[in-house]
Amino acid sequence: MSADTGDSAEPRKHRSIRSFVRRTGRLTASQQRALDELWPTYGIEVDAAPIDITALFGRDAPRVLEIGFGNGDSLATQAAEHPERDFLGIEVHEPGVGHCLIRIRELGISNLRLICHDAVEVLDRQIPAASVDRINLYFPDPWPKKRHHKRRIVQPAFLAACARVLKPGGTLHIATDWANYAEHIDEVLAACDLFSCRERREHDGSTPLDRPPTKFEQRGLRHGHRIVDWIFVSGQ
Ligand SMILES: C[S@@+](CC[C@H](N)C(=O)[O-])C[C@H]1O[C@@H](n2cnc3c(N)ncnc32)[C@H](O)[C@@H]1O
Repeated sequence: MSADTGDSAEPRKHRSIRSFVRRTGRLTASQQRALDELWPTYGIEVDAAPIDITALFGRDAPRVLEIGFGNGDSLATQAAEHPERDFLGIEVHEPGVGHCLIRIRELGISNLRLICHDAVEVLDRQIPAASVDRINLYFPDPWPKKRHHKRRIVQPAFLAACARVLKPGGTLHIATDWANYAEHIDEVLAACDLFSCRERREHDGSTPLDRPPTKFEQRGLRHGHRIVDWIFVSGQ
């Protein structure tokens, strides 16, 4: 598998701002085994060529792309609950990919494939235009310090990349537990004419908007945070 996250020895001035730092978390033995055994079936290698999603799943079903799926529990749950949909998950953290592969095997699902790379690059290079019905971005890294706000993944260029791969009328689902990131998301989306807001829901974790709970949501709730969920519609 290729988990080239781009954090190589290139001089800093040539690197773009990324929404993640590569964490050094080690793979557990079971995650490594899952990567060895299951990646050839459920993993997608990074490539400059666009993915033929119909060929990948052997059918033309509604498609969901999840960005930054973490340990993948919530993503695998969605795939199990919706066998009529196909799911693509993108995550840079290799142990999370290993964990998600374990869940794929436990749940016996065949409608989920994983990519281990920077989603910003994958969106531009590998996802064909107008090929996806829904994008999920659940609890993106909040980058709370002001000097790090530029690392937040929700930026105008990211929204343009999402709009390109979504079918007209496709939806972008976002959730956060950081009040200041919620303000940022409200502002960036209000200034973006590629999406309109279909629904915005502020809640205490008990009424997520068309999604299962996630690990980082639970962590935020333990810290007393409130949750904001949005559904934005493309091409409105
Ligand atoms: C705060 S965690 C949330 C994980 C999960 N969605 C949840 O709610 O439990 C954010 C995740 O996004 C991943 N991530 C951040 N930037 C990314 C990028 N550009 N491409 C792929 N994954 C990214 C991180 O590695 C991390 O696992």
